[in-house]
Amino acid sequence: PGDIFPNRSNSAGVDLGDPLVREPLIERLDKLRARRWHAEPTFLFEDQEGEVAPITKPHDLTIEVGTRRDTLPEEVEQAIRIADAVQPGWNALGGEKRALLLEEAADLFEEHTDEFLSLCQREAGKTLPDAVLELREAVDFLRFYAGEARRLFSGSFALPGPTGEENRLTMAGRGVFATISPWNFPLAIFIGPAAAALAAGNSVVAKPAEQTPLIAALAVKLCHRAGIPREVFQLLPGAGEVGQFITSDPRIAGVSFTGSTETAHAINRSLAARDGPIATFIAETGGQNAMIVDSSALPEQVTRDVVASAFQSAGQRCSALRMLYIQDEVFDEMVAMIRGAFEALVIGDPGDLATDVGPVIDPDAKAALERHVARRRKNGRTVWRRKLPRGVANGCFVAPTIIELESISDLRRENFGPVLHVARFKAKELEKVVDDINATGYGLTLGLHSRIETTRQFVEARARVGNFYVNRNQIGAVVESQPFGGEGLSGTGPKAGGPNYVARFATERVVCIDT
Ligand code: SER
Repeated sequence: PGDIFPNRSNSAGVDLGDPLVREPLIERLDKLRARRWHAEPTFLFEDQEGEVAPITKPHDLTIEVGTRRDTLPEEVEQAIRIADAVQPGWNALGGEKRALLLEEAADLFEEHTDEFLSLCQREAGKTLPDAVLELREAVDFLRFYAGEARRLFSGSFALPGPTGEENRLTMAGRGVFATISPWNFPLAIFIGPAAAALAAGNSVVAKPAEQTPLIAALAVKLCHRAGIPREVFQLLPGAGEVGQFITSDPRIAGVSFTGSTETAHAINRSLAARDGPIATFIAETGGQNAMIVDSSALPEQVTRDVVASAFQSAGQRCSALRMLYIQDEVFDEMVAMIRGAFEALVIGDPGDLATDVGPVIDPDAKAALERHVARRRKNGRTVWRRKLPRGVANGCFVAPTIIELESISDLRRENFGPVLHVARFKAKELEKVVDDINATGYGLTLGLHSRIETTRQFVEARARVGNFYVNRNQIGAVVESQPFGGEGLSGTGPKAGGPNYVARFATERVVCIDT
């Protein structure tokens, strides 16, 4: 489809390389450290008490960032009833007006940069550079989907037909859309699907991850301030049961979910078991992402890209590198260089600018990763592990780890954290390597470092994967430039930030008039 909006540009973000920007920002973020936040349902039953859960800092569980008041089942019912009642009016507003509201929200997000960066660090444990990228992506989603509202919902598309017949296609919202979002991109992947659903003329009930509702609450508040009605975009915080109440309601016309493959299957089953309209289901799930490095690759570039892909964001990106295949002839040299960079990673408080690897999200995530590493050690695998620094015992830190394996088929589940696996392959085994990667059933990101054009062509043609990155890292997809999303066990598509995304949230109507 090419460049859809040639005059649109992604946001500039915050230039942390400029001390005149960085130093005052760090001072302002210091002042925000003491602030406490709260998330609650948009429409509360004042006379009934929902459970209030503390939200703690992943990097120090003794520090509370704020509280979450969970949504009661009756409040879920009420929220959906209200959202259902207002959806036709929101749809009738048309694409241009909805676009202006989403653009106003994007501007407000930028004005509230400090609060968002502070929450990304404190609630989700992100480093400052990661927090900056997250806010940029959120703003870019809002503006890109605003453009899509204009493009797709500003009138009808003329269709061909014989003389005397007029054919038109229009697009409309489906009804109430539920968005269920993850903690690893608590702002960008919270607001992206919601903005797309709103752009398409749906009302939205949004359930953020139970670990990160505070940043979502700020996002929703600013959308309301921008003029998106409270009834049209509602926040329903809570644990998994709140999501189950939402998706079992027959008035839900569609669900966008980002999270584990297992939960996606459960939601799909729940949608299939209910009465009412057949719901649209959009899922973006996990990955077993690999990178292939052959002997023509440039070692310094490989080192930089492997370390970024596997350890940036503490490996908590669905795009992150899990399984690195290196050609036998250069394996020892490459692993030595990667280990050199790995030994230099700074682990610690995401509030320190020097930190490369912060905490994982919670004690359950840490325990699962530790079990995985312990099992591999017990099975006699070579394991390289960093030591954790002093002073992090209150936090959910996992020491960055590299484990040598035979093949990706040794991995059963996604290990969502700073754990990289490496394996050797012989040049004649390239086809088998790609087939083994395909055989995992996941298909999210794949990296290739090779300067041989026929190798690139071969892998590109054979790999069943959503996002294929050549001679670079494999994280940080950019809105509109690298629409993002996988296939198979990794998700249903369409790709976020791409030309087909918003249309999936809409229904199409055709009118045929005999003139
Ligand atoms: N979109 C993110 C990335 O590309 C992953 O969730 O890294």
